[in-house]
Amino acid sequence: MAVIELRNISKAFDGRHVLRSVDLEVDEGTTVVILGKSGVGKSVLLKVVIRLITPDQGTVHIDGQEVGRMKSRGLQALRRGMGYLFQGAALYDSMSVRENLAFPLERSERLEAVELEHRIVEQLRLVGLVDAIDKMPSDLSGGMKKRVGLARALITNPRIMLYDEPTTGLDPITAREISYLIKNMQERYRPTSIAVTHDMICARIIADKAAILDHGVLDRQGTMDSLRNSNDEIAQSFFASE
Ligand SMILES: Nc1ncnc2c1ncn2[C@@H]1O[C@H](COP(=O)(O)OP(=O)(O)OP(=O)(O)O)[C@@H](O)[C@H]1O
Ligand SMILES: [Mg+2]
Repeated sequence: MAVIELRNISKAFDGRHVLRSVDLEVDEGTTVVILGKSGVGKSVLLKVVIRLITPDQGTVHIDGQEVGRMKSRGLQALRRGMGYLFQGAALYDSMSVRENLAFPLERSERLEAVELEHRIVEQLRLVGLVDAIDKMPSDLSGGMKKRVGLARALITNPRIMLYDEPTTGLDPITAREISYLIKNMQERYRPTSIAVTHDMICARIIADKAAILDHGVLDRQGTMDSLRNSNDEIAQSFFASE
């Protein structure tokens, strides 16, 4: 059974259709990458999944439960079980790296101070940033911020991960590093994941399956290779740069 299931999702803003009858299934422990150009509605799609945006039509099921029918308490529990890597890392600027990681962990588990510190250090080790534990976000490079964001999003071992353009704004080498890091973290934690991006290199590295969002339509779905080898013009345009 699919862990995440979107059925017939439509959303318009001021009469402008952003999502048109979108269907998507994400199987347990797999990563689906949504490819789409800037402004097509990738972030909107992710926000629909966690109900930060209510669709005009259609349903989202997570573990068979319809998200639109959940009460606020159920929604809160659902969101707590999700990790979200926001577009642009979005660390808490007034908190050190340690505090950024402690924050979600303290909310989800009761831990002794020693255990808390241990978990934070372990998590930073996974992303190669133990030395940055006392730094403030303003002292970190873009790539380091992404690493901290990734470490923070996964520290609670979420069942579901949503990635919003995890490599945007990074140079190609750092983007590749971050993509491999995401893949390693995905293999370690095995969350069911949706990642949206227009970075084909990232998609190649992390996707089990991919889907192309174009003019609100998400009909082109399959493995990266099946999309690449299809005769579809839109699909071709994405792979032309490879
Ligand atoms: N809350 C909102 N109210 C009105 N319009 C919105 C809202 N959220 C998104 N939109 C519009 O929906 C469209 C899609 O936006 P979205 O942010 O999902 O694009 P995107 O694919 O994530 O783009 P990018 O690659 O630049 O991040 C845009 O035209 C945007 O202006
Ligand atoms: Mg976006």
